[in-house]
Amino acid sequence: MTIEQDMTLQPFSDGLPANIFTLTNQHGSSIAIMDIGATWLSCKIQMQDGLREVLLGIDSMQKHLAQQAYFGATVGRYANRIKGGKFTNAGQCFHTARNEGENTLHGGIEGFDKRRWQVIHQDNNKITFSLFSKDGDQGFPGNLSVNVSYHFSEQNEVTIDYSAVVDKCCPVNLTNHAYFNLMGDQSGLDCLSHSLQIHADRYLPTNHNGIPLGELQFVTNSSFDFLQKKAIQQDFLTDVQQKNQLGYDHAFILKEGYQDAKKVAVTLTAPDASLQLQVKTNKPAMQLYTGNFLLGTPGRATRVYENNAGIALETQYLPDAPNNPQWPQPTSFLQADKKYQSTTCYCFRVL
Ligand code: BGC
Repeated sequence: MTIEQDMTLQPFSDGLPANIFTLTNQHGSSIAIMDIGATWLSCKIQMQDGLREVLLGIDSMQKHLAQQAYFGATVGRYANRIKGGKFTNAGQCFHTARNEGENTLHGGIEGFDKRRWQVIHQDNNKITFSLFSKDGDQGFPGNLSVNVSYHFSEQNEVTIDYSAVVDKCCPVNLTNHAYFNLMGDQSGLDCLSHSLQIHADRYLPTNHNGIPLGELQFVTNSSFDFLQKKAIQQDFLTDVQQKNQLGYDHAFILKEGYQDAKKVAVTLTAPDASLQLQVKTNKPAMQLYTGNFLLGTPGRATRVYENNAGIALETQYLPDAPNNPQWPQPTSFLQADKKYQSTTCYCFRVL
């Protein structure tokens, strides 16, 4: 029985099993996605010596419902944190569901990762899911219709497209929470030996709860400087910013020219240079999260993850942007007459 079939043995909270979809290319590489949370469950890349699973993940609904790691989930309405679970718009204050102390994380208590999405399109290399979130859902204003599609190409590119419309102005920030380990989920190696390049010259320092302090800081002369490719472990846990979060758990604003999904904004490389992941996005920022709180989280089969087992590269608006309109990025508020559209492409290159 495959891992994907195991996932359907127990029902989701609506009493029905998950539906799982697999997209395979001609090299034999494949991705699997399930309708619960429009979750990217698996990514198996054909290497010279066989298939390599490069996503952390789980293999049962029971484990899925119990974990708080957001493995591969589609996160919304607002990915990352909203300070104090509140924001104002046009003089009106909105309170969002608080699920991390007094703050809202990843859309609240019942974020989009915890919903069953409907499949509205499927063909050999693409699947599109849709979700309706009603006015007031988790405290957010407006009826929101959101689509997310996964496309898997012959070049091992996973392109995730998001679109949304809302009937009242509301902050919208959608991302995917996949954790990558390019040496393979079963390798037992952590992600700190991977090297990383991020085309960002500023990042957002946070307090110990992960809430932005307010000002973007230049990465120069700090552990956050990934402008040149470096091993993640090189400057790991060397300053208070990281020590507060047990590692990197911070947003970077991408440099101009790297926010249009044309140029590679982020590159992750396996320590043995066998595989590389290139990320392109039209989001202005990316949260780098080195899996600092994974310890004890069950994985596939009998695996229990250690901290830093994988790395999440969450393309998004800056955290708490609804309360910080002064930051140099497009507004995170989606107007009632506008369409939210974003794309992120994860390209796996066998070297
Ligand atoms: C957050 C982490 C959090 C993780 C899982 C990341 O996006 O930045 O602080 O632990 O998601 O919830």
